[in-house]
Amino acid sequence: MALDKAHIIDLPKVTDPRGNLSFIQNNDQIPFDIKRVYWIYDVPGGMFRDGHAFRQQHEFIVALSGSFDVVLSDGNQERRIHMARSYYGLYVPPMTWRSIDNFSTNSVALVLSSTLYAPNDYIRDFELYKTIVNKNG
Ligand code: TYD
Repeated sequence: MALDKAHIIDLPKVTDPRGNLSFIQNNDQIPFDIKRVYWIYDVPGGMFRDGHAFRQQHEFIVALSGSFDVVLSDGNQERRIHMARSYYGLYVPPMTWRSIDNFSTNSVALVLSSTLYAPNDYIRDFELYKTIVNKNG
């Protein structure tokens, strides 16, 4: 199931007294080609991002600054993953329901995506998501 396939990936960390450095290079650290990058920032306290799933899109989410929780569901079980450091990220495969909440002040969520922005790839209705997941076994 999608929940087992979602996992944390540790990124390279070059420690340096001048400041640490981490990186992601296409095809090296994450299991898809990067087509798009976006980030979520200036999040007011207590705000959350509504859940959705993607039909095709793979994602990799990094807490570049501050912290937040990514909540994953496969329609039956839920996993809450606290993201708090910029040297690891969460791989989220297609057909995983995910929402983001518990943003700290000044947090920045970086999202790498395997596709260009495609509104038709979103499933925003949890009941529809469960129907599709259950139908596909
Ligand atoms: P959306 O992914 O719907 O965010 P959420 O599901 O967390 O509410 O994106 C919000 C808006 O931003 C939406 O109107 C479309 C726009 N958007 C783009 O134009 N390109 C993108 O790559 C993304 C992620 C969003």
